Amino acid sequence: MSKYRKDFPCYEHYPNLAYLDSAASSQKVACVLEAMTKTYTERYANVHRGIYHLSDIATGDFEAARVTVGKYFNANPDQIIFVRGATEAINLVATSFTQEFLQEGDEVIISRMEHHANIVPWYRLCHEKKAKLVVIECDAKGVLDMDAYRNAFNPKTKMVALTHISNVLGTINPAKEMIAIAKSHQVPILIDGAQAAAHIPVDISDLDPDFYTASAHKMYGPTGVGFLYVKKEHLKGMSPYQSGGNMIASVSFDDITYLEGPMRFEAGTPHIAGSIGFARACEYMMDVGMSYIQSHEQALLMYLQEQIETVDGLEVFGQAPNKIGIVSFAMKGVHPHDIASILDEDEVAVRAGHHCAMPLVKSMNQPALTRISLGLNNNERDIDQCIKSLKKVREIFSA
Ligand code: ALA
Repeated sequence: MSKYRKDFPCYEHYPNLAYLDSAASSQKVACVLEAMTKTYTERYANVHRGIYHLSDIATGDFEAARVTVGKYFNANPDQIIFVRGATEAINLVATSFTQEFLQEGDEVIISRMEHHANIVPWYRLCHEKKAKLVVIECDAKGVLDMDAYRNAFNPKTKMVALTHISNVLGTINPAKEMIAIAKSHQVPILIDGAQAAAHIPVDISDLDPDFYTASAHKMYGPTGVGFLYVKKEHLKGMSPYQSGGNMIASVSFDDITYLEGPMRFEAGTPHIAGSIGFARACEYMMDVGMSYIQSHEQALLMYLQEQIETVDGLEVFGQAPNKIGIVSFAMKGVHPHDIASILDEDEVAVRAGHHCAMPLVKSMNQPALTRISLGLNNNERDIDQCIKSLKKVREIFSA
């Protein structure tokens, strides 16, 4: 039994729920909800604008949240931009950074295992600029072809955008090595940490990427908020992504000057309570400890991998030696949507579909997959419930 399960209020409402879809969005911990309620009830006003007491408090809490998020990722808070989530962060980099220098014939490196959020913005940019998207493949186990990556660089390579962990395969990519290789070619690199941030230690100062992003809602925090880390040397030169209030130094009808630092990229009223909730989720995970989180989830993954072998007719995708608690599979003759619907009758929540990773799922010759993903809230009972239900599906479709 996970000793932290009690921290998730969803189980008070659904005591028999086997929630196995944390990769899509994690359930929330009570302290995050409390922090957000406290913000809205006791400490709320707009930030960076008011000269009255409550606004001061809210501004202090909001900026303290930036510091906490920076601490969780071991990054300077002055380089942490609050955004809506990883998707917005990647769009921001493609638009405010890469768009400025990408030219016809240039190349952008991504990989087969990217989420659509780290494909579509680059595809669109390359299309607009007549540049080329270079895709690094992965092997049958779901391991990124690092030789192909090393060999993909040439003088036309202008940007790299790779995922830290695949949302379908669970593969943990060698981020430090990927970054070092890009750096040796003086090519900027963005790492999509959406699936990494809640499951493995992410030390941005040690990794030293140009850009790193993650979303709070996959980290036991609220929806609608995430962060983008930007290396100092880029932050200064980047043009605003969106514009309006909160990001300007001065405005006239003839001339506008912008703020320096993260606020230049935070036009409009930010997600104040969300950012504070995000920081509380980071604090919660720091209190639990990443070593506990990792060992708990790895033990569950081993149990799941063992148990899933007992279900007939399953093909599991993603057997990388270094992976987090994500197991995607196909069941011969049964559509993943049917699997997920039957599992739902047994209060087992899994994701079925293309997982916003169509190029990867299609390369496996599957129209869709069913995915089980684990988090701190899970226990062996969740897995037993899921396996029992999968055996039921097998029986129904074998009859
Ligand atoms: N990126 C999310 C997932 O993998 C939505 O399910």
